[in-house]
Amino acid sequence: MQARKVSESRCEMTEIVLPNDTNPLGNCMGGRVMHLIDIAAAIAARRHARTICVTAAVDDIVFHEPVPMGSVLVLKASVNLACRTSMEVGVRVEMESLQSGKRHYCAKAYLTFVALDETGRPTQVPKLESETDDDRRRVKAAQKRREARLARRKKRT
Ligand SMILES: CC(C)(COP(=O)(O)OP(=O)(O)OC[C@H]1O[C@@H](n2cnc3c(N)ncnc32)[C@H](O)[C@@H]1OP(=O)(O)O)[C@@H](O)C(=O)NCCC(=O)NCCS
Repeated sequence: MQARKVSESRCEMTEIVLPNDTNPLGNCMGGRVMHLIDIAAAIAARRHARTICVTAAVDDIVFHEPVPMGSVLVLKASVNLACRTSMEVGVRVEMESLQSGKRHYCAKAYLTFVALDETGRPTQVPKLESETDDDRRRVKAAQKRREARLARRKKRT
């Protein structure tokens, strides 16, 4: 199976926060941001695996800043690590003010996706080819998170 470059699966998504997305304070609801994170990450995972992928786990998500109605959310997702059948995808969320054009980092999440074959069983994914020092740094950090994640999984079962 041919390796795929990190840049081949990267995904950037832009969404405006509408009234229906907000809480009584007029800020975007966390659940809406989580939904967008899952979609951006799933696109990156599927671009890498080119098969159906399901969300197996989501590491803790921290919301650093409220996102007011009318702001634009910019989500950047990229595959950090590809293992046998699973991938870690990192998503960085920025909020852009359409008035000032300024962007602020507002959230980050790491998700694990598992690629499935046509019978619904986990199936092998292509190796990930790092292109930059940043890619290589992300692989190392993702490997550490995977070890911690799998240790937590073992404890639960
Ligand atoms: C994800 C799922 C396919 C894994 O099935 P499974 O029988 O546990 O598969 P395996 O034990 O063979 O593990 C397959 C891979 O998933 C990884 N994995 C499974 N559960 C995981 C977890 N909780 N956290 C991180 N990785 C996990 C394994 O490490 C393995 O990765 P690798 O092949 O790269 O080493 C299965 O649990 C599932 O279908 N879950 C529901 C997914 C879903 O519907 N998501 C939408 C949200 S409701």
